[in-house]
Amino acid sequence: MEILGIDIGGTGIKGGLVEVEGGQLLGERYRVRTPDPSRPEAVAAVVAEVVRHFQYRGPVGCTFPSVIRHGVVQTAANVDKRWIGTDGEALLSEASGQPVLLLNDADAAGIAEMRFGAGQGEKGVVMVLTFGTGIGSAIFVDGVLLPNTELGHLPMREADGETWASDRARKKDNLKWKQWAERVQEYLDLLEFLFSPDLFIVGGGVSKQHEKFLPLLKTQARIVPAGLFNEAGIVGAALAAHERLAGAPAA
Ligand code: BGC
Repeated sequence: MEILGIDIGGTGIKGGLVEVEGGQLLGERYRVRTPDPSRPEAVAAVVAEVVRHFQYRGPVGCTFPSVIRHGVVQTAANVDKRWIGTDGEALLSEASGQPVLLLNDADAAGIAEMRFGAGQGEKGVVMVLTFGTGIGSAIFVDGVLLPNTELGHLPMREADGETWASDRARKKDNLKWKQWAERVQEYLDLLEFLFSPDLFIVGGGVSKQHEKFLPLLKTQARIVPAGLFNEAGIVGAALAAHERLAGAPAA
């Protein structure tokens, strides 16, 4: 079965049709720049455009880089603050005319990694981390997700983990891989102290270049690159929508 997954990020909004039984993207992704400012109505119009592009009818899974509780956006670290308190599911369903499930972007990436990527069959405590504009986190215990963990905002160095160790920080501060790996190491040390995970799965756009920094990291837990790289958000969103919205009528 094909479900449309859409990954809403700080710079791009990407959609793709996902074959949910196997977790593959079918055909080309469609990418539109995130409107700036990324106010709710402007983003909703792009989501509607992505749905039209695929001439799609049916449940849509959508990621968002925020805490999402029961469809409502609770935080806005790297998006327009007007999102806070917005019922994102209602807004996007109305704009697109299709039932939309909204979930945190790292949670979506984690769901895809556990099902089809580097976390397949992994028991115990698995932490999926996405390094991009921010740092996203998803924790699984024996395959069950604890949503909205937001560990990119753990206090660190007078700010938070993502200010110090995200991929944006690497680019902004023009860090060499070794210098950035030292920051990531400090962040992972904090996560290990708090959670003693069995496995770290490192995702986000930078995970395509994992051989440049993963070998420099030393953790008690095993640490592996994401299997789906940057597509995990789209795939995980589609999987979640399939499970939660299958059979739901168009809005
Ligand atoms: C947001 C998270 C998101 C992460 C990755 C953080 O700034 O607070 O919700 O998962 O960035 O996009």
